Amino acid sequence: MIQETEEEVLCVRVPLRETERVRRKLAAEGLLLPGRILREGGHALIPVRERVEGYPTVKARVKLRRRLTLKEVLRGRLTDEELEQVKRSFDIVGDIAVVQIPPELEHRRHEIGRALLEVQPGIRVVLRKLGGVEGELRLRKLEHLAGERRTWTVHREHGVELWVDLAKVYFSPRLAYERHRVMQQVAHGEEVVDMFAGAGGFALLIAKYRRARVLAIDLNESAVECMRRSISMNRLLGEVVPVHGDAREVTPEGVADRVIMNLPMGSDAFLETAFRAVRSRGVVHYYTAAPEGGAGEKMRVVEEAAESAGVEVEPLGVRRVRTYSPGTAHYVMDLLVRA
Ligand SMILES: C[S@@+](CC[C@H](N)C(=O)[O-])C[C@H]1O[C@@H](n2cnc3c(N)ncnc32)[C@H](O)[C@@H]1O
Repeated sequence: MIQETEEEVLCVRVPLRETERVRRKLAAEGLLLPGRILREGGHALIPVRERVEGYPTVKARVKLRRRLTLKEVLRGRLTDEELEQVKRSFDIVGDIAVVQIPPELEHRRHEIGRALLEVQPGIRVVLRKLGGVEGELRLRKLEHLAGERRTWTVHREHGVELWVDLAKVYFSPRLAYERHRVMQQVAHGEEVVDMFAGAGGFALLIAKYRRARVLAIDLNESAVECMRRSISMNRLLGEVVPVHGDAREVTPEGVADRVIMNLPMGSDAFLETAFRAVRSRGVVHYYTAAPEGGAGEKMRVVEEAAESAGVEVEPLGVRRVRTYSPGTAHYVMDLLVRA
């Protein structure tokens, strides 16, 4: 929802024929204020956030456009105490917003959902998280709050289109940086195994930009179905081969240059399988949940699995991915494996 106000702000003054070029430059530098450009004789007055070197600046009254926040839209509809409880942050997956509603706002949840449709451009569906992700397939229960009645969407990430059904497959937009970080390490020609591929976020991104072959395994048949749809929607440089099954049973041995194992609460039990899957000097991206600051402790688990698999492992780096739950973080260790 956009609000228009009239305010006195700084404007750069440029000859009319220069307007579009300067406007683009200011927008690219984040200096443009969203508002009307005024005309003054043969000049344009472009509203800006601050003085811009190289351009004469004047003050002028300009109509500005500003997007209202969720709380601003809800002001007057909810009491002040209720407004205090409204969470600012929510996840966006494709055109679906996924929100958390505290128990005190239970009776207001549909109103909050409808308000989100008003403030967030491009959102067509609002779903509510009911608890955390659960079970082997890492799914969470969702409740429809507003908009179209569906749980599937197409999510765009780093130029890839991912078909995701949030009720049937795990997906978190918060792993976008991590997926990109791993993709950048992949060389053309690599054989990659993603043991817990989910909707295929890692697999599709790697195959989009690298001439690599990714075996994308998941226990969840719906995940494999999502990947199949995504494969047909994207032009890939490499190849994604979705495999439905238990990674313990279907991961091939001695073939991979790289193994991705993003199952933070369960990956420890699969380390030996991952170490057996790589060729010598392959890399394993081992994701795990550990107490804050305690990722180092996991080296014992790594060493035990390495011994059972008959390989040597050298840690290349550890990164804290995000908070997993209070006091627990999601870490990734990049491990170099020597047979
Ligand atoms: C955290 S999610 C993976 C997310 C995915 N890597 C991404 O970037 O969106 C973990 C996935 O592992 C799958 N999974 C759980 N146990 C498995 C197993 N034994 N073999 C294969 N997949 C499994 C779940 O179905 C789930 O899709």
